[in-house]
Amino acid sequence: MSTGPIGVFDSGYGGLTVLKEIRSALPQFDYIYLGDNARAPYGPRSFDTVYHYTLQCVKWFFAQGCPLVVLACNTASAKALRTIQQKDLQHLDPTKRVLGVIRPTTEIIGNFSANKRVGILGTTGTIASNSYPIEIEKFFPGVTVYQEACPMWVPLVENNEHRSAGADFFVQKHIDELLRKDEAIDTVLLACTHYPLLADKIRQFLPDGTTLVSQGEIVAHSLQDYLSRHPEITERCTTGGGLSFYTTDSPEDFDAKAGIFYGSPVQSAHVAL
Ligand code: DGL
Repeated sequence: MSTGPIGVFDSGYGGLTVLKEIRSALPQFDYIYLGDNARAPYGPRSFDTVYHYTLQCVKWFFAQGCPLVVLACNTASAKALRTIQQKDLQHLDPTKRVLGVIRPTTEIIGNFSANKRVGILGTTGTIASNSYPIEIEKFFPGVTVYQEACPMWVPLVENNEHRSAGADFFVQKHIDELLRKDEAIDTVLLACTHYPLLADKIRQFLPDGTTLVSQGEIVAHSLQDYLSRHPEITERCTTGGGLSFYTTDSPEDFDAKAGIFYGSPVQSAHVAL
């Protein structure tokens, strides 16, 4: 059986916020990151398109030998993961695994809320899929979930405008919309891996005392737990701390922006899918 690095995927840069936490929790493994920047954003795209793009990227990871791929993208997790797990994996390689970010988050999000009112901020695709309310209902039936799609937030972050005054307008707009649904919401989840870069601005517009939850650490701890329960996968993940980055668009552009998400300089190579 093949061995290889753990694959971490996102439509663009957002997954780097998750990779950073995964590496800090599990530094011993080798990792390979792919950003499908040439086709980002995924948020406004149809189910079929996101599924098709994500499947292509998963096949690429498998061709690199990855025994395990983490879709560090809510939109891909919402629109492609289930079909890949239930339909494609058996043909591609039934011994490999593809995991997402929605399940680990919905398993624990209810624990953050004292009054059981949780707000979800995500891309249009993630919100329209209703994945969060459906999954949270399974683990926390007493929690009321309110959703708000924030279509401008990924472009703001991807264009490095997330600290600008222009970002304030769109951040406030969607926070106000969310709170109009229920002003007592006490916990807000950033259900898009790009949004941690907007966290400071988002906090400015939320009432004091609101708990703002990012997914990076949650996903990292869940992966740690998964690997401890699945030695047959863990033993196929190579170790040594290796790390390589790939993008479907220009490596120069990727490297110029990726450091903001990853927290340290990044050097990538181009991949044609
Ligand atoms: N980072 C992706 C997510 O978590 C969204 C980015 C996009 O729209 O492509 O949903």
